[in-house]
Amino acid sequence: MKKLVVLLCCSVIAFHSFSQTKSDGGIAIIPEPVAITKKAGEYVLPKKVIIVSSTQPEMKQVIALLRDRLSIPTGSKVTVLNSSAVASIRLILNQKNDTLIGSEGYRLAVTKKGVFIRANEPAGLYYGAQTLVQLFPKEIVSSTLVKNVRWVSPCALITDYPRFKWRGLMFDVSRHFFTKPEVKQFIDNMVKYKYNLLHMHLTDDEGWRIEIKSLPRLTTVGAYNVKKVGYFGTFSVPGPDEPRTYGGFYTQDDIREIVQYAKERFVDILPEIDVPGHSQAAVVAYPDLSCTPGADKYQVRSGERRNKDTIDNTLCPANENVYVFLDKVITEVAQLFPFGYIHMGGDECDKRYWKNSAAITALMQRENLKTYEEVQSYFEKRVEKIVESKGKKFMGWDEILEGGLAPDAIVMSWRGMKGGIEAAKMGHQVVMSPTTYAYLDYMNGDPIIEPHVYETLRLSKTYEFDPVPDSVDAKLIIGGQANLWTEQVTNVRHLEYMVWPRALAIAEAVWSPRSRRNWDDFFSRVEKHLGRFDITETKYAPSVYDPSFTAHAAADSVLHVELNTEVKGLDIYYSFDNSFPDKFYPKYTEPLTVPKDAVMLKVITYRGDKPVGRMIAMPVDELKKRARKRNYD
Ligand code: ACM
Repeated sequence: MKKLVVLLCCSVIAFHSFSQTKSDGGIAIIPEPVAITKKAGEYVLPKKVIIVSSTQPEMKQVIALLRDRLSIPTGSKVTVLNSSAVASIRLILNQKNDTLIGSEGYRLAVTKKGVFIRANEPAGLYYGAQTLVQLFPKEIVSSTLVKNVRWVSPCALITDYPRFKWRGLMFDVSRHFFTKPEVKQFIDNMVKYKYNLLHMHLTDDEGWRIEIKSLPRLTTVGAYNVKKVGYFGTFSVPGPDEPRTYGGFYTQDDIREIVQYAKERFVDILPEIDVPGHSQAAVVAYPDLSCTPGADKYQVRSGERRNKDTIDNTLCPANENVYVFLDKVITEVAQLFPFGYIHMGGDECDKRYWKNSAAITALMQRENLKTYEEVQSYFEKRVEKIVESKGKKFMGWDEILEGGLAPDAIVMSWRGMKGGIEAAKMGHQVVMSPTTYAYLDYMNGDPIIEPHVYETLRLSKTYEFDPVPDSVDAKLIIGGQANLWTEQVTNVRHLEYMVWPRALAIAEAVWSPRSRRNWDDFFSRVEKHLGRFDITETKYAPSVYDPSFTAHAAADSVLHVELNTEVKGLDIYYSFDNSFPDKFYPKYTEPLTVPKDAVMLKVITYRGDKPVGRMIAMPVDELKKRARKRNYD
């Protein structure tokens, strides 16, 4: 016991002498902690690991995480005790609040003799445990025994706490349905990087994914469409003989199970019911929610080319049944999700049909609404009241600002930061999730090699994300979030490809202090984490190693191409003769002039004598087109 007291005292003193400078050679934690002081020596994991911890229910996953990681790959035996004078790892819930670290922060001391993690709350111990896992060799993430690894962690003192309380990832389970185990796997991956908020986009034109007991057709009819293959948005219109069996939904028991799973891992779930636009599945289930005659002929969208002149995918703000419907939906959603907010969408509402609706015209006259944006605002204000009547806060995409923001709405800014800035200036809370930095559905690199989606968003650009613009009261920006829309994401392997490594950059943007962020340092840590993804067989995009192309047509109609890499120290080798370049080919040193009759530029990147990028074949015709129209960077 005396020994323990001495050790505890020493570590308390050590915590007080933290240096703020970065002296963490060899340590690669993502997101970067607030303060790391590397100490001499290392902690060697014993064959018999004793974890000392309280065993209250909230500690279950903290203990499970350490038990699994410190035994499965290592072969060590882990014993968990409530109290003991000797401990390999001691998890300590502070008796007295440590105000610096708040409810999610922790202090971690790895000494030669043992590991101490202290926090005010179990969440902090969980994040401390995640950091500890990152201090051991990468094989610690293996799901099988790994031989011939020295299971050691460098000695270090770490103080850490998040910059934002809202650290979100949005998962669109509507465009393509993902199963309950797949959602749990998504949660397992996000918590490794200290995300604490899963936003589930549960409804859209392509599927309604949550059972609402009082409205069964939402899922018996609204959860299924026709499986198509190709590019979403360009599919042929499904014929009557194509089976409508693709999709699925979560039963209320499934939702409770997912919510509980997330809670045990300190993740809140934000449900999104996207109205009044993006509501085709709901309208198909209950056609009288539409202002437009003929809605009873609609079908749940299967990603076919959208014919906006024949389908009205909105709920009708002038129809009282819509508010009765939403009251039923929100009542059940509010009961299923303990989180304090409900997201009611509001984005991209196509209002063209409202112009032909006598009911909407009458509503405008009655309520003195001058524009169709004001009609949407009328709708949002009524929906806000319903959400608040269930004891929840109302949240929506930044379109809810148009026509007048509902009085207590929280805005999720996606069309850049502009909407968020405007809302914050009006005193509203904001979560920033701008397309410019945080849209994980966008291509990881050049469209010549990536599956085609709207835009390109490279890792280095995601890393520039800072949720707090200079011009606003920082207190109103409650956090940031990355969004994974799944129009073009049909399976988990591709989902992982889209999420990683960009979600590492966003994790750091929402956790780490601004002053601790540095692209070169971040990327050196990312590379170490890619090694971990290899071991867990988590797919990730290697696109960061591929160059970007910028084409210019000179006045004499000669074409020039500039190549750039996000990563320092790479060499680019190229050919114009259709053969596959390697390190014996010309090395790129300055913008290239495309030879007169060339048809193809091929490039590959190397680090030293190892190829790291993919072989990219860029047609000269494509470069000419880009020189005329646009480049991707
Ligand atoms: C959105 O991306 N439509 C919110």
